[in-house]
Amino acid sequence: MVLKELPVENLSRPLSRNELIGLLFRLSLFGAVTFVTIRWMLDAIDPTRKQKMEAQKQAEKLMRKIGVKNVKLSEYEMSIAAHLVDPLSMHMSWGDVAGLDDVIMELKETVILPVQKKHLFENSRLLQPPKGVLLHGPPGCGKTLIAKATAKEAGFRFINLQPSTLTDKWYGESQKLTNAVFTLAMKIQPVIIFIDEIDSFLRNRSSSDHEATAMMKAQFMSLWDGLDTDYNCQVIIMGATNRPQDLDSAILRRMPTRFHINQPSARQREQILHLILENESVESSVDLKEVAKETEGFSGSDLREMCRDAALLCVRDFIHSDDSVCESIRSICQADLRTSVSKMKKSKTLGNVALLHVALD
Ligand SMILES: Nc1ncnc2c1ncn2[C@@H]1O[C@H](COP(=O)(O)OP(=O)(O)O)[C@@H](O)[C@H]1O
Ligand SMILES: [Mg+2]
Repeated sequence: MVLKELPVENLSRPLSRNELIGLLFRLSLFGAVTFVTIRWMLDAIDPTRKQKMEAQKQAEKLMRKIGVKNVKLSEYEMSIAAHLVDPLSMHMSWGDVAGLDDVIMELKETVILPVQKKHLFENSRLLQPPKGVLLHGPPGCGKTLIAKATAKEAGFRFINLQPSTLTDKWYGESQKLTNAVFTLAMKIQPVIIFIDEIDSFLRNRSSSDHEATAMMKAQFMSLWDGLDTDYNCQVIIMGATNRPQDLDSAILRRMPTRFHINQPSARQREQILHLILENESVESSVDLKEVAKETEGFSGSDLREMCRDAALLCVRDFIHSDDSVCESIRSICQADLRTSVSKMKKSKTLGNVALLHVALD
């Protein structure tokens, strides 16, 4: 009907310039709207798409930085590779760990040497590096510190694996990601896969576990066993925990090399204090032995906090003093350390009581 009303010559004649521009404009507008709609729909269907693309970009950059070339990675491996740590960018070294010389020595002998001097150990099956290393002990005593220093000193690549990386809302994705951890590790070995607070990830399995979690744990363990049978692979899983009793017994079996990193003794505390105050201005009369004696039950991180507090006392004095009298911040003296030790002791006991009250409420 509409066609009938149009003059016949209108249909056969070529389009005028304006009509052509109009048509092109409408077509491109339609194209743009379709493009935006499809993108919006894709984002709505998979909200993690953006995250994945960002992870991919970051992973590519990191891989280039650590010198891994000509290795093709799958999409899943890429998202794990985003958690790679470049050994060159890590600042921790054995020099940053005080008072744990025995642990360091043993780590050097059992973990690092078999990887670095691979040719010496090739014929022995017993002298292969362990596939699992567990660092356990109270919080704040240097477990994470030791793991980082090991990776740095050994020149291993380091995957800082967080359980959240492996969880995905889609069924089956977690397993693929778990698989990717191991395939990626094999491609970029020698590597340490570090799982901090491993008890939260691989805790005792129970019947109340979600099916997907249970499958992920089981798969992790069987892939781990795969490392054991491959004598040439240089992949070490290192875990740190404050609660080794919560770990699954099957996991404990896979971590035969264990290091107990205990609360520092008086001698160790003195060494830690020396290290912490190494680059600070401290009065020569300060007796760190005495401070070490007074700080019974303090962890390494408590000692660090305590020294920070003492240093702040000097800054506070500087701020409140008359500018004409004081030109620079004074050095830390014994009295500052004593004050901050007693303050720390008070807050430690008070802190525990306050937390208990919260728990009881
Ligand atoms: N043996 C130590 N030598 C030097 N610093 C230590 C030591 N132990 C703990 N620290 C300090 O305490 C902080 C926390 O230690 P961390 O390794 O994270 O403890 P955790 O055992 O809970 O993993 C470290 O960053 C470091 O500054
Ligand atoms: Mg830690």
